[in-house]
Amino acid sequence: MKQRKKTAKLRSDTAIFKLGVLAKEKELVRRKLVITATALRQKATQLAVIAREKEAIRRKLVVTAKSLATIAKEKEIVGRKLTLTVEKLNLQAERLAIVIVEKKAILASIGDAVMACDKDGKVILFNRKAVEMTGFSAKEVVGKHYSDAIKFIQEVDDKPSPDFIAQAMKTGQKITMADNTLLIRKDGVRVPVADSAEPIRYVHGVLIGCVVVFRDVTKEKETDKAKSEFISVASHQLKTPATIISLYAEMLLKGGGIMTPKQREYVSEIYDANRRIVDIINTLLNISRIEMGIFSMEPVPVDIVAFLKNGIQQLNGGLKGKNIALQEEYHQLQHTVSIDKLLLNMVFSNLLSNSIKYTSSGGAISVKSQKVKKDEQINGRIIKESSLLISISDNGCGIPLDSQSKIFTKFFRSDNARREHTDGTGLGLYIVKSILDQIRGEVWFWSKEKEGTIFYFTIPLAGAKQKQVIA
Ligand SMILES: Nc1ncnc2c1ncn2[C@@H]1O[C@H](COP(=O)(O)OP(=O)(O)OP(=O)(O)O)[C@@H](O)[C@H]1O
Ligand SMILES: [Mg+2]
Repeated sequence: MKQRKKTAKLRSDTAIFKLGVLAKEKELVRRKLVITATALRQKATQLAVIAREKEAIRRKLVVTAKSLATIAKEKEIVGRKLTLTVEKLNLQAERLAIVIVEKKAILASIGDAVMACDKDGKVILFNRKAVEMTGFSAKEVVGKHYSDAIKFIQEVDDKPSPDFIAQAMKTGQKITMADNTLLIRKDGVRVPVADSAEPIRYVHGVLIGCVVVFRDVTKEKETDKAKSEFISVASHQLKTPATIISLYAEMLLKGGGIMTPKQREYVSEIYDANRRIVDIINTLLNISRIEMGIFSMEPVPVDIVAFLKNGIQQLNGGLKGKNIALQEEYHQLQHTVSIDKLLLNMVFSNLLSNSIKYTSSGGAISVKSQKVKKDEQINGRIIKESSLLISISDNGCGIPLDSQSKIFTKFFRSDNARREHTDGTGLGLYIVKSILDQIRGEVWFWSKEKEGTIFYFTIPLAGAKQKQVIA
């Protein structure tokens, strides 16, 4: 019994022990499981981070793939465009080549001398006629500044001509050479030339150079000279009988001989008409003298202000007759310049009488004088040398725009002037311009039809040189 009890206790102790061992093992297993679970959670977290990173990378890759596809497409478009542009450029180059060949052919065959300069004034083109006229080869001229390549001088004093090429580039406008310009050939021979310089502008208005055209006017000058000689001879021949008619008509009128009132009226008409003929003959004689260079110039010190006042006084009858208000504005009380009084009088009286003639009754005229410096701009005009500037402005009928370019040509009268004043030769302004050309003065105007006109002329302060003519 005791043995049985002992055995039973042993068994239960063993069982307890085993249970204890088992409990320990379980505890160990549980702990291991806890550790494993924690590790697994950490792993899971890491995996989740990696998965997120991978997703981000995947998304980035998708975006990159899309951009690559867009870039590829764009490249494809650019490629196509480039191909098109190259084709177009090739086509344009072909066309340009044709145009260049055509232009070269035109320039070579053109009857006038043509010289083109770049914006710095370097000659880039010199056509066949220019070579022929100047005696310089294109090689000698191209690449040089135009002023080193060819020389233009004034016939009147052999001084360099006003730089019309520089003026054209400066003002952006076509500038015509001054009258009586001479070109000095390579062999020193002087050739009378005419024409102009015109600036070349790129599409956006940027100046890229200038084209100068000039032609030999020797023959034109010879024809003009022959015409002037004819006018001179004819006028001289007419002057004597016209003067005799005036003389006798005057004698009849003043002599108090017996004449009926009707006869007196007729003689008076003859006298007036003949006076006009004498005036015209004198004008024609003056023109032929100026054109043939056979007028003498005797500069004397002239107080310009007093001279202008005196000129106004001479035409006072016309001013008063039309009730025209005259305003005078002089830069100073007195200003003396050496000049030929007769020639200056022809200039001023022609301009002032025009203002009176082409201004309606009750109108207004003003005469002004001012000093101007070389290169100063007056009414869009660059002054060539320091001068006295005289302006005569009126609020008369004005000069229509389409007549303005012809106003200094011989016998030209605008339509509105012809309508209002049937008498007039259209020679006054031609004389004015010819005289001023001889004394290095300038003349120009501003005018608007039905508003008025301003004529400007300059008298160089340096004065004029004496010129004697042996008849
Ligand atoms: N102040 C002015 N106002 C309007 N037109 C003018 C003026 N001055 C000149 N003209 C225009 O210029 C033209 C030429 O003038 P110019 O003095 O040469 O000749 P004219 O006056 O017609 O004739 P003439 O001088 O022989 O009497 C005129 O016919 C006229 O059309
Ligand atoms: Mg006139």
